[in-house]
Amino acid sequence: MGLPVAFGQFLYMSILAPQSFECFSHGEEQTERIGARLGELLPSGVVIALSGQLGAGKTHFARGIGFGWGAQQELRSPTFTMVQEHRRNRPGGLDRLYHIDLYRISNDSDLRSLGLDELIEDENAVVMIEWPERAPSAIPRGAIWVTMNPLSETRRQILFASIDAQNWLILLRLRKLVFGA
Ligand SMILES: Nc1ncnc2c1ncn2[C@@H]1O[C@H](COP(=O)(O)OP(=O)(O)O)[C@@H](O)[C@H]1O
Ligand SMILES: [Mg+2]
Repeated sequence: MGLPVAFGQFLYMSILAPQSFECFSHGEEQTERIGARLGELLPSGVVIALSGQLGAGKTHFARGIGFGWGAQQELRSPTFTMVQEHRRNRPGGLDRLYHIDLYRISNDSDLRSLGLDELIEDENAVVMIEWPERAPSAIPRGAIWVTMNPLSETRRQILFASIDAQNWLILLRLRKLVFGA
């Protein structure tokens, strides 16, 4: 005898928000490794919004993405330069990785001079944005959101979400790499 339909639906409904999952990191190296796994999966055109308070681990996560993506140089915090452009060793390759930090953005004219819209529209680039809350209207609706929450000195909750179907497939592949299932 099966479960009553309504009860069965309740049991198998996603416990978190739809199209999202979370994992936990126990240290900065682990955060970088999780980022690297995501970096390996990213095609050009994807926008990643990296959210979380100062010191949450956004830049460490971004560094991991750069490593997995194959950036020629290790990623450093772009807090002062605001945008750092990375390339990888691919003969004739056009692809780019933009690492953007909006922490110091205080108004729309800052955003315009940064050229954020053009960077986001670059179909040959993966675009990672720290402090996306500083430019909410510029972030595409379907972006991959990575939200980092410090739980202790070394533990972080990392929440992944996207309402875009293609990006959610990427996150499902990441979930498989992280949890092995
Ligand atoms: N699990 C963890 N993941 C990432 N960073 C961690 C972790 N545990 C401790 N840290 C520390 O937290 C800080 C995160 O710095 P950073 O990545 O620059 O954060 P953000 O870019 O969010 O301001 C670093 O000092 C790092 O050593
Ligand atoms: Mg940072």
